[in-house]
Amino acid sequence: MDSTNTSAARYSRGAIVLHWLIAVLIVLNIAAAFVSEEMSKDDRATVMANHKAIGIIVLLLTVLRIVWRLMHRPPPLLESLKAWEAALSRVVHAGFYFLMLAIPLTGWAMSSAFSKGAGVSLFGLVTVPALPVGYDKPTAGLFAELHELLAFGMIALIVLHVAGALKHQLIDKDDTLRRMVPWMN
Ligand code: HEM
Ligand code: HEM
Repeated sequence: MDSTNTSAARYSRGAIVLHWLIAVLIVLNIAAAFVSEEMSKDDRATVMANHKAIGIIVLLLTVLRIVWRLMHRPPPLLESLKAWEAALSRVVHAGFYFLMLAIPLTGWAMSSAFSKGAGVSLFGLVTVPALPVGYDKPTAGLFAELHELLAFGMIALIVLHVAGALKHQLIDKDDTLRRMVPWMN
């Protein structure tokens, strides 16, 4: 692994793999939810079954990622960061961890309530049991609202996060992106 105290320090391999895997799955899930709105009922049901399974996998990977992070401290922030940049990145990263748990959990609760206690099938391989919430319409509606609201919060954070990454790469020309991209020199 890289040394920890210089600008060459990177996130650990595990943190990098989990970052990119989870990022791809989240973007896929957001796209699937929106694209499916234009589909026939049957097609939408198929896409949303995959949306639910991918979402549960994101939840599991996020738990793994948090455990991994507790065992592998991230590299120290670049010394060149201004105080507001360091503070903003901490807020955005904490917001991501919260949403990576809260979005799948509200989706799972919504699905449990809508389907009156049916579990979520993970691609027909295993079925995750329903969460113990009220199995009625108002409960389903409440979690649907929350799920949507949180997902829009996630979209806003992604825009901010990617803008930050691009600013560091193209304007500041510093090592920020390198810390999360193993093949960059
Ligand atoms: C990575 C995690 C997830 C993300 C980013 C995500 C994102 C979204 C988005 C953007 C929508 C569309 C919101 C709207 O405009 O109505 C949506 C809808 C939905 N999500 Fe998720 N979701 C995730 C996980 C889950 C999980 C784990 C489940 C269930 C087990 C789930 C079930 C649903 C359902 C049933 C809808 C449709 C709601 C409706 O039609 O009113 N989602 N999701
Ligand atoms: C859904 C998409 C994404 C999510 C949820 C996400 C989430 C996160 C989180 C939580 C961290 C903090 C890691 C930690 O300290 O434990 C992080 C770091 C980072 N992400 Fe993302 N990310 C996403 C997409 C992207 C994209 C598209 C890029 C590049 C354009 C990117 C570039 C980075 C970089 C460079 C860091 C390290 C920042 C630093 O050293 O302070 N991420 N990301």
